[in-house]
Amino acid sequence: MSPYKHIWQLSLLSFIIAGITGFFYRYGMLYPMPEWLHFANLRHAHSHLMFFNWVCPPIMAWMAAGVVDSSNLSAIRKFKVCLYTMLFLGFASYPFFLIYGYQSVPIGLASIPLAAVISGLVMLTWYWFIYLYFRERTTGGKSTSNLLFDASLLALLISSLGAWGVSVFQFTGIDSPLIASAMTHFFLAVFTEGWAVLGLLGIIWSIVDTETLLVKSGWLWMPILFGSLMIFPFSLIQSLVSPMMLYTAKAGTLLIVVSLIIHLFHFLRSAVLSGFIWKTVLFLISVKIIFQVAAILPTGIWPGEHGLSVLYLHLILLGIMSIVFMEAYFHDSGRYARIIFTISILFVIATLAMISGYWPPSLAPGNLYIWVMAASILPVLPALHLFFLTVFSD
Ligand code: HEM
Repeated sequence: MSPYKHIWQLSLLSFIIAGITGFFYRYGMLYPMPEWLHFANLRHAHSHLMFFNWVCPPIMAWMAAGVVDSSNLSAIRKFKVCLYTMLFLGFASYPFFLIYGYQSVPIGLASIPLAAVISGLVMLTWYWFIYLYFRERTTGGKSTSNLLFDASLLALLISSLGAWGVSVFQFTGIDSPLIASAMTHFFLAVFTEGWAVLGLLGIIWSIVDTETLLVKSGWLWMPILFGSLMIFPFSLIQSLVSPMMLYTAKAGTLLIVVSLIIHLFHFLRSAVLSGFIWKTVLFLISVKIIFQVAAILPTGIWPGEHGLSVLYLHLILLGIMSIVFMEAYFHDSGRYARIIFTISILFVIATLAMISGYWPPSLAPGNLYIWVMAASILPVLPALHLFFLTVFSD
């Protein structure tokens, strides 16, 4: 992974900055904050930096390392230029999201929604990476991780269409909050459940010691890819969802569950995925499956409820994905910091469960929001340690 070491460092730095931003969101719920800092903008700055710079570059650098030989310096340089540009734009969007959110910024006589413009440029770098990857990929193998990476990039491409759709829709003059919200949630669902989940499964498959599949390889990616396209109605306001949309979302969720169970079955047989950290990852994948089964059954659980959707999103992206990244990139160093990172994430997820609206209040500690705030800074501390570990091992 050494050619992409600085990419990884910058991604880790993004995680730290975005994590501290998340902490300030929780801090601001209890203590006074500067007047110019709005909650919605803090959330935008946090979530976009996480999506742009924490989710994408580490998966992409891993993919690039898988298709390009370390002696092919010219191809490595092209990937690096693309990933540095992506990271630069991600960092550049951060202050605009923090101060202005999606509002326009006055520049001279004009007024430009700079955060949205930079976000559009970030998406162009995704297309740039997809182009580079598939150009190099033609000579690559057909391993399971390669298949998952191919599918994940297809999901990224499709998800981005939803995001462009939101921008274009603003100019149509049609006044339909349902369509605008549906496109936003289509983007979020396919990005998270398609691109990020398939990408992180691809990383896990490149680490496991077996390529012996008990099913046809299509079962590992097709249900997740197609399922991710169908689940967005679950994120809408329940009363706006027609029975047809509801059944589509349930069918999509079922597809994802079936495929995840197959992945989990293979992972449980792998001798490499042992030890506390990998067992935690497999446990969190099981929790994700249980959550999704609960959404399919008539339990009354609506995944789009704010508390529940924040919990679910962090279960996947902070829980499963961030722990896998640390394991993949630091496999032989910083072991204790990685264990502390994993435990601190379990704390964050537990506190998010307590404020999800589904936790019995009698089982929550007093001063709950103090605990929620304290837990939210914990993952940043071992991440800082690991960041300095990579910087000083240069
Ligand atoms: C130290 C780690 C993290 C902390 C402390 C944290 C904290 C927060 C907080 C406080 C919110 C606002 C919750 C609310 O609106 O009630 C939030 C939302 C969000 N976070 Fe995180 N987060 C962390 C990690 C991550 C990661 C790793 C990702 C993605 C890779 C992520 C993506 C998001 C997104 C997309 C939202 C917006 C959710 C929504 O509005 O529905 N977060 N986070």
